[in-house]
Amino acid sequence: MAKAEGFKVTPWEVTGKIDYSKLIKEFGTEPLDDKTLARIKKHTKDLHFMLRRKIFFSHRDLNWLLNEYEKGNKFFLYTGRGPSGPMHMGHLVPFIFTKWLQDKFGVELWVQFTDDEKFLFRKNHDDKQEKFTNYAYENMLDVIAVGFDPKKTHFLLDTLPGHAGLMYGEAVKISDRITASTAKAVFGFEDSHSVGKFFFTSIQAVPAILPSALKGKNIPCLIPLGIDQDPHFRVARDVLPKLGYYKPALLHGKLVEGLLEDGKMSASNPHSAIWLTDTEEQVKEKIIKHAFSGGRGSLAEHRKLGGVPEIDASYRWLQALFEPDDKKLAKIYKDYKSGKMLTSELKAYTIKKINAFLKEHQKKRELAKKQLDKFLFKCC
Ligand code: TYM
Repeated sequence: MAKAEGFKVTPWEVTGKIDYSKLIKEFGTEPLDDKTLARIKKHTKDLHFMLRRKIFFSHRDLNWLLNEYEKGNKFFLYTGRGPSGPMHMGHLVPFIFTKWLQDKFGVELWVQFTDDEKFLFRKNHDDKQEKFTNYAYENMLDVIAVGFDPKKTHFLLDTLPGHAGLMYGEAVKISDRITASTAKAVFGFEDSHSVGKFFFTSIQAVPAILPSALKGKNIPCLIPLGIDQDPHFRVARDVLPKLGYYKPALLHGKLVEGLLEDGKMSASNPHSAIWLTDTEEQVKEKIIKHAFSGGRGSLAEHRKLGGVPEIDASYRWLQALFEPDDKKLAKIYKDYKSGKMLTSELKAYTIKKINAFLKEHQKKRELAKKQLDKFLFKCC
């Protein structure tokens, strides 16, 4: 469990301002260096802006995965979503990046929806299991809307009887190798926590080996994910070789900060993020009224001193999500920092970008309702 000075990162709780170099040391991952990026580029021809800008910044065993790929041993992708409620822009980051990987490498993708997890870790004990299953089906529409290839993409829903049946046998074997003291050390669990919580990580490990189990041969796996999910796979990487499988390779993303000063995107404060179902007006209001600004107190002061793009929520969102063009982004940075661009202008540009994205996303989300069946894995 990462609990360095001033910040904490676990799969269920992220607090404070994350120092990513410290986190790399603490988690024991490898920084994504230029040499590895060049290796990726050899196969993909260009680099996604999330790689160029080190939004995806750290990995485990990516060079091994590329070695295998270059030997002709194709990998598959695995990522997931814990359906705790509607999805916000932050949740979409790994999916947008994963779609690019799927397109570039032409590989299969498995997506796990952990409605069991969100039930086991819910804060309100009156919430029933079905609530999270319903959110899972809603969230699936957002994931489909990202544009994955239905022929190569398979959704797993943890409590769906067929899928549960498929995964449980493997999860049992994995859980047999994880002691309670490991779960306590890695996840910070205590004796008062339910045994369901202790067991859950075994289920999240399964899709990393399921295609290998189904085909009866080892297939390398690459998991693009937010770094908060790393602890699950640190445990899985320990256990899976003992069961005869490869360790999955990981590619970690930073956790994009929310709109408010404290940086958290949280369902308890709707102003802290953009939800994928927000209307144009809601986006406008959130950015204008609530997005933290790096601008100065008065127009005169802003023109004289310039803004601070690094702390400005609109700028950060353009950088992480909405302005893929490096030249345009660099100009915005320069103009804002020099005081030539005003906060109102930066916000207006960001609103336009977000609303253009959401308009398309929401259209595709509607169409996704008819496609759901193609994405749910047909196993039994
Ligand atoms: P969940 O639903 O919390 O998050 C889904 C994915 O989004 C990432 N993420 C973010 N990325 C960038 N900026 C943010 N602000 C942000 N917030 C969340 C998460 O790291 C995650 O990659 N237990 C998992 C579901 C899961 C999974 C997996 C995730 C099952 N199998 C395999 C990754 C890989 C969960 O609750 O994710």
